[in-house]
Amino acid sequence: MINIIKVNSEQQFNETGAGIIASLLQSNPRAILGLATGGTPVGVYQKLVELYREGVVSFKQASSYNLDEYVGLPENHPESYRRFMNEKLFNHIDIPIENTHVPSGNSEKAAEEYTRLLEKAGQIDLQLLGVGHNGHIGFNEPSENLHGPTHIVELDELTRQANARYFPSIEEVPTHAVTMGIGTILQAKQILLMAKGADKAEIVAKALKGPITTQCPASLLQTHANVVVVLDQAAGGLL
Ligand code: F6R
Repeated sequence: MINIIKVNSEQQFNETGAGIIASLLQSNPRAILGLATGGTPVGVYQKLVELYREGVVSFKQASSYNLDEYVGLPENHPESYRRFMNEKLFNHIDIPIENTHVPSGNSEKAAEEYTRLLEKAGQIDLQLLGVGHNGHIGFNEPSENLHGPTHIVELDELTRQANARYFPSIEEVPTHAVTMGIGTILQAKQILLMAKGADKAEIVAKALKGPITTQCPASLLQTHANVVVVLDQAAGGLL
């Protein structure tokens, strides 16, 4: 079932996302969180840091598994997703750093190890997702076949262009990434999909109301029992 929440401001967007994650941690301090990078969750993470500082939420017993990572960037590269997570969230809250996991894009073997790690961890309690303009979730790009477990993918040109804003030039955007597969994403107990901005309106409508197809990986969320979607007015404009 998909429950859509439309909000009226950036502040409400961030508060709503952070509020859902904070309530989960309040009722289950040992929650396993699936986390995302990109522009969408930055303000949500800022709000979570605030809630932590105010004593509203603690991550001491929580653990986290990120969706994806570029292939070929060292962990300390300014654009690596490990670095993003440390800088935007982990360094500012009380989560033990050893409880945080970001897949390594170094090899197929590392991808397989991440799958085993996820299996051992058990079910993710809440998976946070953004959505790409082409309907990707994680880096599961539109394709005839989608993969269940963590695997290495070639990034779509559209994805590389969208992410070029963080790199000095498009040539420096990696061509490949490692990503949790659709199977693992759909196994999460709850999914929190967030999108903002008019540029996401079309894909959000397609994903939530269009046909369920591997050509729009986010449309597979329609098959999940517990999805909450948080949209600003612009991203929800075509619903
Ligand atoms: C990030 C991820 C991607 C992004 C998506 C949207 O870990 O898995 O699927 O969520 O590309 O990115 P933004 O939020 O930058 O629009």
